[in-house]
Amino acid sequence: MRTQVAIIGAGPAGLLLGQLLHKAGIDNVILEQRSRDYVLGRIRAGVLEQGTVDMLDEAGVSRRLHEEGLVHDGAELCFGGRRHRINFKELIGKTVTVYGQTEVTRDLMNARDESGARIIYEAESVSLHDFDSTSPKVRYRKNGEWGELDCEFIAGCDGFHGVSRQSVPQNAVRTFERVYPFGWLGILSDTPPVSHELIYANHERGFALCSMRSATRSRYYLQCALTEKAEEWSDARFWEELKRRLDEEAVANLVTGTSIEKSVAPLRSFVAEPLRFGCLFLAGDAAHIVPPTGAKGLNLAASDVHYLSRALMEYYAEKTSAGIDAYSEKCLRRIWKAERFSWWMTSLMHRFPNTDAFGHKIQEAELDYLVNSRAAQIAMAENYVGLPFGD
Ligand code: APR
Ligand code: PHB
Repeated sequence: MRTQVAIIGAGPAGLLLGQLLHKAGIDNVILEQRSRDYVLGRIRAGVLEQGTVDMLDEAGVSRRLHEEGLVHDGAELCFGGRRHRINFKELIGKTVTVYGQTEVTRDLMNARDESGARIIYEAESVSLHDFDSTSPKVRYRKNGEWGELDCEFIAGCDGFHGVSRQSVPQNAVRTFERVYPFGWLGILSDTPPVSHELIYANHERGFALCSMRSATRSRYYLQCALTEKAEEWSDARFWEELKRRLDEEAVANLVTGTSIEKSVAPLRSFVAEPLRFGCLFLAGDAAHIVPPTGAKGLNLAASDVHYLSRALMEYYAEKTSAGIDAYSEKCLRRIWKAERFSWWMTSLMHRFPNTDAFGHKIQEAELDYLVNSRAAQIAMAENYVGLPFGD
């Protein structure tokens, strides 16, 4: 089989890239190791920056997002038993859209089906070859039979554990990592959200986050030890602990119910440099991970795809490799800003084991400064709402 661009992974990065390239007349094939239902069963983040919404518009997959997505003008920080609103709209004139990553993925998969572009689910043993030459290949097995894709470029959109980054010789890639000494226990429930906007809570028992997917579906998280097992948390135990970490008004408004998903996720910061190796480009979680506190994971994947799709379109339409040559550098500038912000939000809002009283006082002072300084709030709002994707 021949194609122009082989895309590894059908997460939001791979699917969005595939759709944008297809619209531009660039032939591509997506290889995904899991089934469609498995991919759609993963519960991930839910806050979209304007730049991400713009890209979904461009890809022609945003009808449902505009109908069902919730536009949020601000978010709340809760500490010392009180809530403080950061009003993005008033501070910088911008908003975010709350719409689940699972739904973004579903919309992209449906668009792929309608377009007739090729996507191979349950592709096993995917391997990358000759990407340092001009005729790279991708091999895979499907239903026991081997297949080979001859292509011009490979886009590694296969997430943190994918094969693409691992195919690069170790001495060609430099990695930067911070693993946090805690995780997030998350639940999804068909209950109305406790508040109209997200609440990020710093509490002595640990961080908590109140988020949502719609007016009738909520997503809540608790900071927990990495050894914690989701099975050991009954719904009742989860709600009790959440109440302990929220302010009185939130506790009074909290509607509890049966959870429909419960899982523990570790928190990590990770960057691989560079993002290009000959004809292979990494994009999304394959190249970088952020802790979820800043809601940047999906948005960073979208910004990589923004630069990569433009670079490939330029290459095919104008026969110039300028965009391809600048891809890694352009992405990394944005990636490191998001890494910094996500690390900062994580440091500000969590209880770190082994932090002494001095550390707690500094955290309190920083929160106090933030909610009383317009300049600090503008800086937070700019980063949370997202810097423009740029050219
Ligand atoms: N071969 C083929 N596909 C693979 C392989 C492989 N060897 N390894 C992984 N994959 C697939 C995974 O099954 C997954 O569907 O690649 C896809 C990667 O998707 P994501 O992990 O969702 O990564 P990405 O598209 O970069 O999206 C980034 O998603 O993970 C969240 O927090 C992250 O919000 C961020 C966004
Ligand atoms: C979510 O709704 O899952 C969510 C929202 C905001 C975050 C992280 C996760 O910062």
